[in-house]
Amino acid sequence: MVERIKAVEDEAISRLNEIKNLQELEAWRIRYLGKKGLLTELVKNLKNIPTEDRPHFGKNLNITKNKLENIIKEKRVTLESADKEKKIKSSAVDITMPGKGIKRGKLHPITQVMNEVVDIFLRLGFSIADGPDIETDYYNFEALNIPKHHASRDMWSTLYIEKDTLLRTHTSPVQIRVMEKKKPPLAIIAPGKVYRRDADVTHSTVFHQVEGFMVDKNITFADLKGTLTALLHAIFGKAKRVRFRPSYFPFTEPSAEVDVECVNCGGKGKLSNGESCRVCKETGWLEILGCGMIDPNVFKNLKYDPDKYSGYAFGMGIERIAMLKFGISDIRLFFENDLRFLKQF
Ligand code: DAH
Repeated sequence: MVERIKAVEDEAISRLNEIKNLQELEAWRIRYLGKKGLLTELVKNLKNIPTEDRPHFGKNLNITKNKLENIIKEKRVTLESADKEKKIKSSAVDITMPGKGIKRGKLHPITQVMNEVVDIFLRLGFSIADGPDIETDYYNFEALNIPKHHASRDMWSTLYIEKDTLLRTHTSPVQIRVMEKKKPPLAIIAPGKVYRRDADVTHSTVFHQVEGFMVDKNITFADLKGTLTALLHAIFGKAKRVRFRPSYFPFTEPSAEVDVECVNCGGKGKLSNGESCRVCKETGWLEILGCGMIDPNVFKNLKYDPDKYSGYAFGMGIERIAMLKFGISDIRLFFENDLRFLKQF
């Protein structure tokens, strides 16, 4: 009997060393310690042994049973922790791998230039106003001294929605909307989108303008000149020459267009290699914006007394400024959202 117990114990221990996982361990437990296991069978067998010998064998069996139970406990702990380790390893993040770079977004170049222009005016004490993109004929034209069927309407290739409803062709109607509600002194800028039936390398159906105007007593053309010269110097650099050229707009009298020295040829009209400058078409000047003294007819519609108040107004295209600033020759690049283009700003 003692030999049989010893044989079962030896077999159990030697087989235990070959066990590699928890399933094998369970099979092992059933074989030796289970209800019908080898050791359990031996315990059951005790009743066939003479009574006086039972305590001796019983003690032996108990020692072996305890031994095997302890061994299996230890083995289970080892196998379980190995199992856990394996699971962690297979699912864990490898912290030695290079990380995924977070791509930083940027402001669109048009937004950047828009913000730059707006900031310059905020520093000069102007406030921001806005108006709707869908306008009425009254605000877009009539109130700005552009009557129906007047030839000057040809200056804007208008997109109509209905007979008297249209997509605003410029930000100038915001002048009217503000002056309807507020009394002078006014120093306002109105940035926003405008729409025209126009599309080629330098014209886009949708583009951006910044409108500005100032109304008070004794506002003169000198105020206009000083403000816009400061603006253009801030955008293009103080060394650039600026000129005011007589022009025509229905809502201003007198009107002017403002040019800045060509950024491409330095105002010479020719490049250093003798080639003619295509950016300014050899004129040496770039037209940047329109402006003038607000026409008394505009004030009359608003019940402002033109003998008491005067004001200036101006409007500029942001895409044009951005193209000159960044040396971009095709306006469509701004609207295609090609990352290779946008990443450069
Ligand atoms: N609204 C004009 C345009 O879109 C630009 C402009 C010219 C605005 C003269 C003005 C101005 O306020 O006084 O072409």
